[in-house]
Amino acid sequence: MVQRVAVVGAGLMGGGIAQVAAQAGYDVVLRDVTPDALERGLGAVRGSYAKFVEKGRLSQDDADAALARITTTTELDAAADADLVVEAVFEKLEVKAEVFRELDRICKDDAVLASNTSAIPITSIAAVTRRPESVVGTHFFSPVPLMKLCELVRGYKTSDAALAAAREFAEGVGKTCIVVNRDVAGFVTTRLISALAMEAVALLESGVASAEDIDTACRLGFGHAMGPLETIDLTGVDIMLNAATNIYTDTQDEKFAAPELLRRMVAAGDLGRKTGRGFYPHG
Ligand SMILES: NC(=O)c1ccc[n+]([C@@H]2O[C@H](COP(=O)([O-])OP(=O)(O)OC[C@H]3O[C@@H](n4cnc5c(N)ncnc54)[C@H](O)[C@@H]3O)[C@@H](O)[C@H]2O)c1
Repeated sequence: MVQRVAVVGAGLMGGGIAQVAAQAGYDVVLRDVTPDALERGLGAVRGSYAKFVEKGRLSQDDADAALARITTTTELDAAADADLVVEAVFEKLEVKAEVFRELDRICKDDAVLASNTSAIPITSIAAVTRRPESVVGTHFFSPVPLMKLCELVRGYKTSDAALAAAREFAEGVGKTCIVVNRDVAGFVTTRLISALAMEAVALLESGVASAEDIDTACRLGFGHAMGPLETIDLTGVDIMLNAATNIYTDTQDEKFAAPELLRRMVAAGDLGRKTGRGFYPHG
């Protein structure tokens, strides 16, 4: 049974995971490499609880109690008695591998080691440990307190027990889980969004329809909250190109081959909202 949780990385995702875990009653140790990063992370959690209180969705007492359940530390050793560790550090295999090597040394034998990676194969992360059966993907979505999905990913050697513990935790913090049974590039969610996004760009590139009309088709025809081109602008044109290219490299499936337009936009620096221009002007 999962009671004590350690979250490694106090950024956007790690802070959000710590927030929902503490709110659900788990004792949480939140670890980052510097006191500044921890203060930023905890500050974001505090601010988010305050908004929920303001909107009447959380009482002040419950917010205070949840905040009191989060302990911050720069010492990874604090994960020693955690039942479940969720890693949410930078999306780089070398950085994650270093964290998992350490966790393997520090954590108790029956701990479950989860990664919030959006794209790195769980099997590659698990392979640096002596307990690959205990390593599982828990892919939460941003903003974590609001988004209801958690994509659970089985690595090549992930045990049923590790997957069950990850599910217990994700459901415990109010998420609905889907299970990715094979550790494929892009899991399920990035596969789906990449296929739709590449097709939307191809339709635009070949002059079949305007960006506005492609997005309107998905919003009004399919009930999507956002159209695929708007989504690319929000996520980052470079991030989407990278995600699709990684899947293409792994699968050689042409539907993930990035259209020339997407590649040229990245080369030109039109990366979406963050640079003020993508498929649409921003700001
Ligand atoms: N941002 C998103 O929308 C999103 C969505 C789903 C999944 N993810 C995945 O979640 C993970 C984290 O993403 P993020 O957006 O929160 O990143 P972020 O940059 O906001 O935060 C990463 C944090 O990790 C910390 N860190 C780096 N090395 C560390 C170490 N060795 N020990 C402890 N902390 C360390 C950094 O100081 C930083 O605070 C990535 O794998 C990312 O792909 C992100």
